[in-house]
Amino acid sequence: MKAIILSGGKGTRLRPLTYSGAKQLVPVANKPILFYCIDNIVQAGINEVGIIISPETGQEIKDSVGDGSHWGIKIEYIIQDVPGGLAHAIKTARGFLADSSFVMYLGDNLIGSGIDTFVGKFNLDKPEAFILLKEVENPKQFGVADVSESGKVLRLIEKPENPPSNLALVGIYIFSPKIHEAIERIKPSARGELEITDAIQELITMNCNVESFVLDMWWLDTGKKDDMLTANATVLDDWLQEKIEAEVDQDSKILGRVSIGKGSFIRDSKIRGPVAIGEHTVIEKSFIGPYTSIGDNVKVIRSSVEHSVIMNGSEISDIERMDESLIGRDVRVFKNMTSHKALRLMIGDDSIVEI
Ligand code: G1P
Repeated sequence: MKAIILSGGKGTRLRPLTYSGAKQLVPVANKPILFYCIDNIVQAGINEVGIIISPETGQEIKDSVGDGSHWGIKIEYIIQDVPGGLAHAIKTARGFLADSSFVMYLGDNLIGSGIDTFVGKFNLDKPEAFILLKEVENPKQFGVADVSESGKVLRLIEKPENPPSNLALVGIYIFSPKIHEAIERIKPSARGELEITDAIQELITMNCNVESFVLDMWWLDTGKKDDMLTANATVLDDWLQEKIEAEVDQDSKILGRVSIGKGSFIRDSKIRGPVAIGEHTVIEKSFIGPYTSIGDNVKVIRSSVEHSVIMNGSEISDIERMDESLIGRDVRVFKNMTSHKALRLMIGDDSIVEI
């Protein structure tokens, strides 16, 4: 079995974080979302992986993922010139996929488990497609499945006006090569894309076996929900492993599950986990509270931060209390000591400032 990971798109819903880069590389608990997808694929025993990239952000993805040797696998890059939809991406990858069955993983989807059991079930039952479903509150934003009481998939529709159920299609699919035939038969949707949902519906029309499984663990469609803080907190809660490689001085206290990378310094500070801190970061005279991820080369001085994400290269100083904040790369947030009343701001497009 092979795998393709879809890693194109413009990431409009995650602006401003994605102005300077691909949405699949936005970190969750200090690790790019895309890396969790690759981990899951490798853990399922798949070692031939194609990453579909767009001309806009492809180079950045190549630079950070590399040739796959980090995971001991082979990664190929496939350029999708136009954002023609998920089924169009499969068409683009046809040469790489040949006649193999494959996992298709959307590179901005995170689930609370591995995918090995689903791959195992596919190999055992040999359906033409295996889809994952999850109950959601806002089915109109997704592909939606109508499933019979016995669990048979009756119908699939993309972003329906009147959803037949609240079961959304999760962005992880397993296909036999039969899907190529179905893709040849479908037409672009109203949004001008070749929809994978329509192609799977076509398999149903062709009387092929489409299996489904309703996830009971969490699923975060990070590219859509804009809710990076939820993703961060969920992943820290479930997966963070305690590991302290930094220098922690005697005046500091580390409580709970905390990971701190190499070359970082913690001075006269208190850190209450779950907290992830990257490499070469300095925390001084500060409090870092639960559900916070701080990247590499960050400085937090005389400040209190909780339930937040601070990305690489940023600097926070003299901030009494920062909560539920999402700070991008190379940002400076500090208190102006001379002019107490005035705010001086330099803020990029699509930012939010709450005072
Ligand atoms: C895509 C699929 C949709 C699926 C969703 C999951 O939507 O078209 O069926 O439910 O991914 O993330 P899009 O992200 O293109 O809006």
